[in-house]
This record gives sequence, structure tokens and C-alpha cells, in this order.
Amino acid sequence: MNPLKHVAIIMDGNGRWGLKYKNSRNAGHKAGLNTVEKIIKETIKNKINFLTLFAFSTENWKRPKKEVNYLFNLLENFLINRVEDLHKQNIKLKILGSKKFSSKLNKLLNNAEKKTSKNTKLQINLALNYGSKSELINAFKKIKKNKNIINEKNLSKNLQTRNIPDPDLLIRTGNTKRLSNFLLWQLAYSEIFFEKKLWPAFTEKDYSRIITEYKNIKRNFGKI
Ligand code: FPP
Repeated sequence: MNPLKHVAIIMDGNGRWGLKYKNSRNAGHKAGLNTVEKIIKETIKNKINFLTLFAFSTENWKRPKKEVNYLFNLLENFLINRVEDLHKQNIKLKILGSKKFSSKLNKLLNNAEKKTSKNTKLQINLALNYGSKSELINAFKKIKKNKNIINEKNLSKNLQTRNIPDPDLLIRTGNTKRLSNFLLWQLAYSEIFFEKKLWPAFTEKDYSRIITEYKNIKRNFGKI
């Protein structure tokens, strides 16, 4: 059985689900947040230590302003209402990506990270305004600035995911098979599951089925 320390998820399909069932893309994002809550619970049940969620990419700014505002409102409310409980559950929250948001949201994010920084049960990495290519370029720049040599260890150390093991498993919902500039370096050896279901329709049962399948895969890491 493969150990499972870190699950990364591209939560795709909110917009399509919202349009199909509620005639509104934003309703899909709201429903997507319910799935986030369910998956957090299931991740704890499975004793997984790291959960990385792709919540907003550097490319998502190109969406209509109304949708972008809705997403950030949802996030603000999530931080205001849920961080205390996450903290009580010994969950650590970390943001991946560059925090270039409103001062209110930046403050909420910084406070949530600070408050939960010592927690040890589960670390949730929320990728927000995140793009893997720019993360890699910044890492190379830091190596150059410090006059260090370029090797795997130094590169990993200069990524935002330093101290976080690479994902064992990547799940992308929404019936699309692409990585969308997410953790390109860190996913080099991850097992990848592309799910047909849209994120709001994804259930604990779907998640458990993938975990069981993952645990039974023969992982070779290049060997035979
Ligand atoms: C992709 O679906 C999803 C997003 C860009 C946003 C993800 C956000 C959430 C799940 C809710 C907020 C989460 C937190 C933690 C506050 P899409 O809109 O690209 O779907 P589509 O492919 O159907 O258009």
C-alpha cells in the first residue's frame, strides 16, 4: 500500500455546474465551497498531512470582474467564519502564490497563516493568484542572487513549497485533462487522476475511491 501524505486538487467545473443547475456561474463557486468543506473532513479522516487546493490562478484575473469579486468575497467570508474552527481542529493554513489582493483580504490571509502556523494535524495550502512558471522563475532568481548552484535541492528549497513533500496524488475534476500551470515541478512523480464530475458534484465517496485506487498503484519512480 502506498503511503499518502499529500493530495493536491484542481477544483474545476464550478462554473459549468452553476450554469447547468442554478443558471449562475457564481452559484457554482458557492457550491464548490461546500465540496471544499467535505473534502477537508475526509482528508482528516484519512490521516493525510497535506492538502493543496488550487483556488485562483494568475490567469483567473481574466474572468469578468463580477465573478472575480464574488470569488474573493467567498474567500473573505470563509476566512472570517471558518479560521477559528480550523485552528481548533489543529489545522495549519498556508497561502501559495503572491498575495496581491485588497488590504482587507491580505490582512485576513496573513492573520490566518499566523494564527495557525504551529498547528500539526493537517496543512492546507491554498493556491491563490498562483502560477507555477512564475514560482519557478522566482526560485531561479533567488538561487542566482545568492550565488548558489542550480540543482534539484536548491530549486526545491527556493519554491514556495519548501518544507512540503511533493504531492503523491493530484486530482483534477471537471473532465479536463491539463495541469493549468499548477505545481509543474512538484508534480513530476505524482499519480494523476482526472475526474469527469464537476467539482460541486464531487463527493467524499469519489475521493475515497480515488484514494483506495492510488494506494494500490505500483509506484516505480523510474525504477522497475
Ligand atoms: C474552477 O472552476 C474553480 C475556480 C476558479 C475557483 C475555485 C473556488 C472554489 C472551489 C470555492 C472557493 C474556495 C475557497 C477555499 C474559498 P471553473 O469556474 O473554472 O469551472 P468551469 O471550468 O466550469 O468554468
